[in-house]
Amino acid sequence: MKTLSEKLQETTQFLKEKGIGDVEFGLILGSGLGELADEIEEAVAIAYEEIPNFPVSTVTGHAGKLVYGTLSGRKVLALQGRFHYYEGYAMTTVTYPVRVMAALSAHSVVVTNACGGVNETFKPGDLMLITDHINFMGTNPLIGANEEDLGPRFPDMSQAYTGDYRKKVAEVAQTRGIDLKEGVYMGFSGPTYETPAEIHMARILGADAVGMSTVPEVIVAVHNGLKVLGISCITNLAAGMQANLNHTEVVETTERVKAEFKELIKETLAVL
Ligand code: HPA
Repeated sequence: MKTLSEKLQETTQFLKEKGIGDVEFGLILGSGLGELADEIEEAVAIAYEEIPNFPVSTVTGHAGKLVYGTLSGRKVLALQGRFHYYEGYAMTTVTYPVRVMAALSAHSVVVTNACGGVNETFKPGDLMLITDHINFMGTNPLIGANEEDLGPRFPDMSQAYTGDYRKKVAEVAQTRGIDLKEGVYMGFSGPTYETPAEIHMARILGADAVGMSTVPEVIVAVHNGLKVLGISCITNLAAGMQANLNHTEVVETTERVKAEFKELIKETLAVL
């Protein structure tokens, strides 16, 4: 069986042959936030199913793609459509794109998501800078043999969300008049939304927002030595804080705030 490093070698060789050069920033675009990839200039887009060792999207209906090019003067590789644990993928599969970004010499990842607000001062449509996370997914993407050339056996998660990036995005938000919230993201496996009792627990444990992604990718980014900027879009109030939850509201909210979201990411990329 091929090692992870051998698979990465195959994948990156293919991508380089397709015209993907060195990457500075990987962008992982969450539900409803994928449109940012459409603004990448001199774009090279490659469907996931063409890429060796890449997971094939079976659930979402339409295939995702990798988009490489320039955004705000930075060389970016965007993942338009991420892989979720609840879709049935192994954690190593969910996080494979982050490994690919690192193998293409990215020094940072910008991770975004749609999530539920737990903090009572948040409202749907708010953007939240992720300051830290709680891994409540019941597993960890680094379980298994460690490949030392990728990263250490016991990665330090004390500063997973890069302090300097947090400061810069907060400055950009202030200049632009964007009311950027800050808080702790708690990752659940999904695919059910949480129960009101689980949200009560999440709040007691220190969560400001809950979602079904981001945590695995950030763990692997840290393992790989990447800097991380995490931005959440609060699409709804979490279970028990509003009458009921549904995916339609999640989509509608991202639709409403995507212009502000795109502006925040683009302006921030220019100063990171
Ligand atoms: N919970 C979990 N994931 C989510 C939510 C939520 O309330 N909203 C959007 N993604």
